[in-house]
Amino acid sequence: MKLSEKVAVVTGGARGIGLAIAQRYLAEGAKVVVADIDEASIEDAVERLKNEAGDEVVMGVRLDVCDRASIDGLVKAVIQRFDGIDILVNNAAVFDMAPVLEVTEQSYDKQFNVNVKGTFFMLQTVAQAMVERGQGGKIINMASQAGRRGEALVSMYCASKAAVISLTQSCGLDLIKHGINVNGIAPGVVDTPMWKEVDALFARYENRPLGEKKRLVGEAVPYGRMGHPEDHTGAAVFLASSDSDYVVAQTLNVDGGNWMS
Ligand SMILES: NC(=O)c1ccc[n+]([C@@H]2O[C@H](COP(=O)([O-])OP(=O)(O)OC[C@H]3O[C@@H](n4cnc5c(N)ncnc54)[C@H](O)[C@@H]3O)[C@@H](O)[C@H]2O)c1
Repeated sequence: MKLSEKVAVVTGGARGIGLAIAQRYLAEGAKVVVADIDEASIEDAVERLKNEAGDEVVMGVRLDVCDRASIDGLVKAVIQRFDGIDILVNNAAVFDMAPVLEVTEQSYDKQFNVNVKGTFFMLQTVAQAMVERGQGGKIINMASQAGRRGEALVSMYCASKAAVISLTQSCGLDLIKHGINVNGIAPGVVDTPMWKEVDALFARYENRPLGEKKRLVGEAVPYGRMGHPEDHTGAAVFLASSDSDYVVAQTLNVDGGNWMS
């Protein structure tokens, strides 16, 4: 029980990696807030988590990380219910891809709004509440191997995730004086609903049958398969617990060996 009595907010927590982290945090004794834009998925996730861990330790809130008022509302609601926030997992993101000559302004805006602006203002708003409370905290930004290098068809998503790694560094350096550790996790290829969308886009742009790209990227992972959401929960617990107090501004690759840095 590494997170006993801690209060954790997980954005994009209604499915995929976020949901697996929410589940694991509850098993480690935390109270968990599932914050997501998709109300139907929140309902399903919250019902499942309450069945596993009990009504009193789970809260679901609709959140749009692109909307400052929505972020403020979430933080207020969590403080009202649970007194404060100890852990933020800044996990919500969207993916899109296109050849450079075909990237639209709409696709650029969507990815940078959710993945960069949303990540930063979630972090800032929660950090303000943590500083006011005076008990420090842990903030974990979900980056990606896509942020470690470019990809011909994935320019905007890669740039947005490189920005997440950079924000993790700057925010980590600035906030550690308040006892707030900001670190990141960079997954590789993970079998979640997002990768279903990724596979369909690769099928379109690389003229492949559905499922082929997913199979190929899985086979190419040194570990021998794609990641499962649960593969990331150990790192998420470590970075949320006091075991990582001396870890500052780092982004940890959890990717089966795909990337070394
Ligand atoms: N799946 C992968 O292969 C992979 C690889 C590297 C990094 N990642 C990163 O891991 C994180 C989780 O990925 P996943 O595969 O579980 O994704 P997913 O698409 O399955 O889940 C993302 C969740 O974020 C929510 N969301 C989207 N926009 C939002 C908004 N504006 N406000 C609040 N919530 C919003 C969605 O509703 C969804 O529940 C993301 O940051 C992603 O970029 C994923």
